[in-house]
Amino acid sequence: MVSLQSKTEKVRRGGQADFFTRVADYLAGDLDRVDDIIGEALQSQIGLTCEVARHIEAASGKRLRPILTLLAARAGGGPSDHVCHAAAFAELLHIASLLHDDVIDAAALRRGQPTVNKRWGNDVAILMADYTYSRAWEIAHTHLPTELMAAFCRVAAGMCDGEMFQIETRNRLLTEADHLFIIRCKTAGLFSACTKTGAALGGMPEAAVAALERYGMEFGLAFQITDDVLDFTADPRVLGKEIGTDIACGRQTLPVIRALERADGDDRAFLIAALNNGSAPQVILECVQKYGGIAYALDAARSHAQAARQALDRLPETPARQFLIELTELVINRAY
Ligand code: IPE
Ligand code: IPE
Ligand code: MG
Ligand code: MG
Repeated sequence: MVSLQSKTEKVRRGGQADFFTRVADYLAGDLDRVDDIIGEALQSQIGLTCEVARHIEAASGKRLRPILTLLAARAGGGPSDHVCHAAAFAELLHIASLLHDDVIDAAALRRGQPTVNKRWGNDVAILMADYTYSRAWEIAHTHLPTELMAAFCRVAAGMCDGEMFQIETRNRLLTEADHLFIIRCKTAGLFSACTKTGAALGGMPEAAVAALERYGMEFGLAFQITDDVLDFTADPRVLGKEIGTDIACGRQTLPVIRALERADGDDRAFLIAALNNGSAPQVILECVQKYGGIAYALDAARSHAQAARQALDRLPETPARQFLIELTELVINRAY
């Protein structure tokens, strides 16, 4: 008999898959163009680089950053070839950051397949990440105006600083403000640069560009918070990556921060110890849930998603805007 939970999961997963099918239909040729640009960028004369590139291209992930870039452009005037290049550039930055992240987290599974570090080792993964970054910046140099390229430079530096701050603060408990800083740097900044860039290249007026930039930031904050919740609650086969890795790496995500704010005595000591040894994920989840950590994080994600939704209020009603609205719901209910 199928349990209620797995039935609900199927419905959620189906709804999410349906969204991606519809948005891919709407963006049609542009997403294919993005894939082609990514494929070209990862070509090399070195066999090993090509082999790793084929592995990366075999599982493409959700392509959320290109989707947001292209939707923001369509909410304005419409995509040009420069927009497709900007979208591919953003995805390449994301891919590079995942390659590095999987080395840092010693992760074994990404997008439903072995990570590059697992299959070829950390040396290959780090070099492939750097190769991907370099090819990405070459695209940006050709297709982005200087001020947008400068914005992405700041985002990329911020992604490193966010991770550095996380490492620097490993030996103390994080506040919610610290946590917000980290997720803004490591995740939301890139989404925000994507929607800003799409809107600017799509020819939108300044106020609309600013609104879409805000949308990307709030969406990105919601996105990272639900990612952190999924690290506790998801089915790894659906998520395409392992769960329980955050706590195993000593990462204080919002569910844990909240639980630690409320727990005392043995439970508090248990959670602090869990951050150092990451053992018994099911017991950790139960303890986090006992103090409302998951519900609290989902509420916070909901507030950011709502702020993203509000940022779209003054934009003209277009199919692209409608997809962006749908994304603010999907980000809360997603299963992967
Ligand atoms: C994963 O991002 C990394 C985070 C910022 C949480 P995605 O969930 O967008 O990864 P892919 O691109 O779909 O694999
Ligand atoms: C996001 O953090 C990492 C990047 C922004 C590269 P996570 O460590 O939570 O990402 P996942 O869960 O491994 O995809
Ligand atoms: Mg990770
Ligand atoms: Mg994660």
